[in-house]
Amino acid sequence: MKILGIETSCDETAAAVVEDGVKILSNQIASQVEIHARYGGIVPEVASRQHILAIIPILKQAMVEAKATWSDLDGIAVTIGPGLAGSLLVGVNVAKAIALAHGLPVTGVNHLEGHIYANWLISRCIDFPLVCLIVSGGHSDLALMRGHGDYVVLGRTRDDASGEAFDKAARILGLGYPGGPAIEQAARNGIASIPLPRAWLKGTNDFSFSGVKTALLRLVEGGKVTNKADAAASFQEAVIDVLVTKTVAVAKECRVKQILLVGGVASNELLRQRLAENSPIPVLVPEPVLCTDNAAMIAACGYYRFRANKIDGLDLDVIPSLKLA
Ligand code: KG4
Ligand code: ZN
Repeated sequence: MKILGIETSCDETAAAVVEDGVKILSNQIASQVEIHARYGGIVPEVASRQHILAIIPILKQAMVEAKATWSDLDGIAVTIGPGLAGSLLVGVNVAKAIALAHGLPVTGVNHLEGHIYANWLISRCIDFPLVCLIVSGGHSDLALMRGHGDYVVLGRTRDDASGEAFDKAARILGLGYPGGPAIEQAARNGIASIPLPRAWLKGTNDFSFSGVKTALLRLVEGGKVTNKADAAASFQEAVIDVLVTKTVAVAKECRVKQILLVGGVASNELLRQRLAENSPIPVLVPEPVLCTDNAAMIAACGYYRFRANKIDGLDLDVIPSLKLA
């Protein structure tokens, strides 16, 4: 079963063809990072316009790379949310147009669920129940997954998402955008020597990252940061410490078989290493290009939705504030 995946929820225009939910036949991504970097963050109107410009060429490239024609496809999976309304609309309308023109079924995919399904592209041995740590620009969620499409959200951030915290910390330190890779790069030359607070929120599985960000801001404003690399390393350490400790604790408590680490922040090398080292439960994490936004993960998730007969009509619409469960 060949599924065309389409992803336009944020600042990457992506299309991919995936076979049977596991085999990537193509995975094309047009990033807008350089354009938004000029503004220090994503400008929603600019993002929508860029998706309109990029979507047709990216679709063509994905079909050529997969050596597929429209008649080779069995269905289309498209991100419907969460994300920027104007950006999501581009992908959803293109998906519906192709579905109508070629008589293909379409299914709307939750972007967060897509991130989770990136793991099916790298492993054939995924065992339920499992715990997912979903860390992206807009989310820091801990979820119990009991089966395909069956989630219980155990915890989420009460303020900034972890990716958002990385982006804001990079801005505070003048390291540029996107902040996650910039902080990780700067931290390579630093020592985590600056004490920064950790919000443990004991008795809950929730996260909070605004305190550590504000503590960093106060130090910078007070002229106490003389070495940016040390500040980046200390900030990265503080965020990862909380993410790893709370994820391992909840996975033990739920007696799960595996932990899946997903989302853009999961491409952080130290986070991957720390979680693997500190967890007695096996950890799966996709390669970095499948952690940040891509359409292969949407196609993989779509495959399982089609298998469960979750087919949408041409009245499919975007849901910008869609939740996992
Ligand atoms: O999943 P994603 O590509 O897009 C959203 O769904 O939001 O995640 C983007 C987020 C950004 O906040 C970015 O700074 C962060 O992931 N990120 C990282 C790294 N690479 C991307 N954070 C920490 N370390 C990284 N290497
Ligand atoms: Zn994402």
